[in-house]
Amino acid sequence: MTTVAIAYHSGYGHTEVLAQKVAEGVRDAGQTPVLLKIESAAQDFAPLIDQITQADAVIFGAPTYMGDVSGVFKVFADATSSVFFTSAWKDKLAAGFTNSHSFAGDKAHALASLTILAAQHGMNWINLGLAPPNVTAAERGPDTINRVGSFIGLAAQSDNASPEITPPAGDRETARLLGERVAKAAVRWTAGASVADAIGKAA
Ligand SMILES: Cc1cc2nc3c(=O)[nH]c(=O)nc-3n(C[C@H](O)[C@H](O)[C@H](O)COP(=O)(O)O)c2cc1C
Repeated sequence: MTTVAIAYHSGYGHTEVLAQKVAEGVRDAGQTPVLLKIESAAQDFAPLIDQITQADAVIFGAPTYMGDVSGVFKVFADATSSVFFTSAWKDKLAAGFTNSHSFAGDKAHALASLTILAAQHGMNWINLGLAPPNVTAAERGPDTINRVGSFIGLAAQSDNASPEITPPAGDRETARLLGERVAKAAVRWTAGASVADAIGKAA
């Protein structure tokens, strides 16, 4: 069974809704999600980092705060330098999602931070893989997939309301599709690794 870790922070619960939907997408692809909530900057990150090391792929999630990943997520990212020196995450698959109040809100910068984190570990980035919605502004609604039109990862938008209500259905479905995409890619990637091993041994 292929495992996909979902390492995320959520200050007020909106990004957490997306993490749950990403996990649903992994399950829909027949694989195993491992939800890893980053609770606070003061926690011991070692067990969480170990679980990512064990996983075949990781999907990072953070709310956009002040135009970048939340400070708590950044403290976690810095703590991953413990495995940077061992290359333990090298060649693993990675992807990411963020969520903020504004439609743009500088979410692209937060997603760029997640891709750089993956690149520093030598991981391979899986983008969202969904075309931006081909609809008029009037047609664009809460059910629209990839509502804000992001490419490198999921960019969701939440109003100032309870996480039970927002982010809307389209963003939740986009999160599910991201989980499904990464899980399927991880199955191909891990199966491909055994084929490469066999070819290497035969040569
Ligand atoms: C400290 C702080 C900074 C924020 N900065 C931004 C921002 O730069 N852009 C934006 O669109 N929303 C910003 N927001 C709004 C949050 O991104 C939004 O409320 C989001 O849904 C919070 O996700 P969470 O519930 O998972 O913490 C900010 C919120 C906080 C608390």
